[in-house]
Amino acid sequence: MSIPSVVTHPPFNITRSSHVRYFVTDLEKSVRFYTEILGLVISDQDSDTVYLRGIEEACHHSVVLMQRRDTAPAAECVGMRVASEDDLHRAQEHILAAGGTATFAERPYQGLTLLTSFGEGTPPVELCSSMPVLPRLLNNFPAQKGGRALRLDHYQCVIPDVGATAEKFMALGFRPSKYTTHVDTGQLLSIFLARKNNPHDLVLAQGAGPRLHHVAFIVSDLQAMFRACDIAANLGYGRHVEYGPGRHGPPNGIFTYFRDPDGNRIEFGLPPMQFMDPEDQPNVWDSTDGVSLVPWGDGPPQRWREEMTSFDGITPAGGTIARWTSRR
Ligand SMILES: [Fe+2]
Repeated sequence: MSIPSVVTHPPFNITRSSHVRYFVTDLEKSVRFYTEILGLVISDQDSDTVYLRGIEEACHHSVVLMQRRDTAPAAECVGMRVASEDDLHRAQEHILAAGGTATFAERPYQGLTLLTSFGEGTPPVELCSSMPVLPRLLNNFPAQKGGRALRLDHYQCVIPDVGATAEKFMALGFRPSKYTTHVDTGQLLSIFLARKNNPHDLVLAQGAGPRLHHVAFIVSDLQAMFRACDIAANLGYGRHVEYGPGRHGPPNGIFTYFRDPDGNRIEFGLPPMQFMDPEDQPNVWDSTDGVSLVPWGDGPPQRWREEMTSFDGITPAGGTIARWTSRR
């Protein structure tokens, strides 16, 4: 199959994936998990909401945890940054013209924010142009805990039609760094899309959706990753280390996946390779290339394939989960 050409002058300028908003069932437990095990730090909080960031992050938050009572946990939306307020107005115009929804909203600790959807089967995305700046804590060693998560890198959404959704985001300037197709039908099964200078901001994978499969943070090294696993065990979350440590194929990623107290999946990964020059082409695999995607060890457990976070108020629909096999 062919995928769309890269759009070098998109209608507005998305700069990166930046944050996620979760409704959680026990705020205290969640905060402990994100701070003590993953090593995020609290930027601000009130009785119902906690804003967290990685130790390398200067912008106010990459995770927002919101207390929810008597209902199931969920993600409200994923967030992306744009270069300026002007981009938000162009975004609204473009998304409405494309048949989606785009409404301005007030968010604490964020500049002008646009709540968007490209329609059924696509993830809700909020675009924001700025956040307050706080000190980076890279050199503040007493403040560093757990896995010392550095920064949010990407998130993966499972959606019923990868091809159609990829087309919508590639029209906004996202570049593919890798993608997989079905060996018989050529159907697009997953695609890794980037706006910043590494291989992923937004990963789209085939399945009933939209659902949020995981949010990924970069850690400095293997020691930090193992430390998070060890502290998880000490704090009673040993079985929340779901999969890994292991290796993905390109971009040379060592990974570990954790489940937070509500089951939301967080990936830890080592710093990925650079991907920024326009002539750099995506890696392409078919559905028999499981060994390229995970070169050693077992593939992911069944729960990794099937369990994920719902978006608030959205019933997942359509799509079957893609299956990979290994020809070797
Ligand atoms: Fe990932």
